[in-house]
Amino acid sequence: MEQYVIKGGNPLVGEVDIAGAKNAALPILAAAIMTDEPVLIENLPDVRDINVLLEAIAEIGAQVDRLNSSTVRINGSAIKDLSVDYEYIKKIRASYYLLGALLGKYKHAEVPLPGGCNIGSRPIDQHLKGFRALGANVGISYGAIVARANVLKGSHIFLDMVSVGATINIMMAASMAQGRTIIENAAREPHVVDVANFLNSMGANIRGAGTDVIRIRGVDKLHGTKYSIIPDQIEAGTFMFAAAATGGDIMVRNVIPKHLEATTAKLEEIGCEVEEFDDAVRVRAGRKLCRTHVKTLPYPGYPTDMQPQIAVTLSIAEGTSIVTESIFENRFKYADELTRMGANIKVEGNTAIIDGVKKLTGARVSAPDLRAGAALVIAGLAAEGITIIDDIVYIQRGYENFEQKLRSLGAEIEKVSTEKEIQKFRLRVG
Ligand code: EPZ
Repeated sequence: MEQYVIKGGNPLVGEVDIAGAKNAALPILAAAIMTDEPVLIENLPDVRDINVLLEAIAEIGAQVDRLNSSTVRINGSAIKDLSVDYEYIKKIRASYYLLGALLGKYKHAEVPLPGGCNIGSRPIDQHLKGFRALGANVGISYGAIVARANVLKGSHIFLDMVSVGATINIMMAASMAQGRTIIENAAREPHVVDVANFLNSMGANIRGAGTDVIRIRGVDKLHGTKYSIIPDQIEAGTFMFAAAATGGDIMVRNVIPKHLEATTAKLEEIGCEVEEFDDAVRVRAGRKLCRTHVKTLPYPGYPTDMQPQIAVTLSIAEGTSIVTESIFENRFKYADELTRMGANIKVEGNTAIIDGVKKLTGARVSAPDLRAGAALVIAGLAAEGITIIDDIVYIQRGYENFEQKLRSLGAEIEKVSTEKEIQKFRLRVG
């Protein structure tokens, strides 16, 4: 099992390039199979979740050519199997995007029902409600969702809660339904807009993505395209908080500053300077960080995927901060690990009360999920002494070359897999 070993204390300084957005790339890869013509996708992040989804797409018969680490060509003309294997959904929930894509194109899809995951129970009732509204017969058979329709017909769908996944899945299926679909209370995340732009570049007719009402006029056929994925706002935000927590100065490049506004606002509130450029942001940490309150919300609110990173930073900020998680019920699992590093954090229900301490100290901790794992890396970089992080497989799901990028900013971090390598690291860093 691979681990990270970190010697904390170095302020991160320098420039870092952000990869394509994982949460845009996943549905875009699924949507790419909706045409029988080749689709070229660029700025793909080279992370585990993406690689697993590409395997799932190849497994159902699509041709997948990885031209280089950030470019793939997909041709869905040879798809022969409309049922996705449980192996994939087990590894990556987002394979449920194949439901919307296959249902739209073939009017039939079979995808295993994803269970809960580390951050919460994560039901998909709104996805299914949308497919049913489009006229599909949706049932569960032997653990799989089976969706079938003779014809899909446009419909007026009101989502009960703002859901990124449901908005995108319904948008995909509705792109190839007959007539007009309206999705109300739609998610407004940048990746929803990116998927709509991608589908439109394949000939779909989607308007209003980025607002809470999306209007789709179904088309019979989609065609090939070439498309470049937007930058990952969560990877960018993670580096921005790494700069804050280590007292650093980082230029985060290849970003869309508008997508980072909620993160930028919080960094400024806690005493950092954030300078925006056309496609970069520079974060300079203040001499002292100060407390704030934050509540996670759908976009344009503060993202749940940035909650652990701000909490770790607030754990060394002066004063008492309150962090409220309103999207997923299980997103404070890192709190006990952070306590072992000397933080003063108390979780009550969906709220964490954090009394800032002067410093964290290194410890052996375990990554409970992707973003919490990245946040523990930030804690390790800011802490005094050596931190060892177990279960980094979670972090590798969503961060491309994480340790290399951090090292280029002056961090002492290494990926290791044996005690001997940890000892070697200790000897080297002194
Ligand atoms: C996406 O998950 C992201 N995943 C998550 O990123 C992210 O945390 C989340 O959106 C919120 O921004 C991908 O894009 C692959 P939701 P998703 O549907 O689509 C409830 C990361 O770290 N809900 O917007 O599954 C749900 O339980 C990850 O990269 C229902 O009740 O999230 C949650 O409380 C983890 N029924 C809320 O809505 C439904 O049918 C929002 O979930 C759907 C959702």
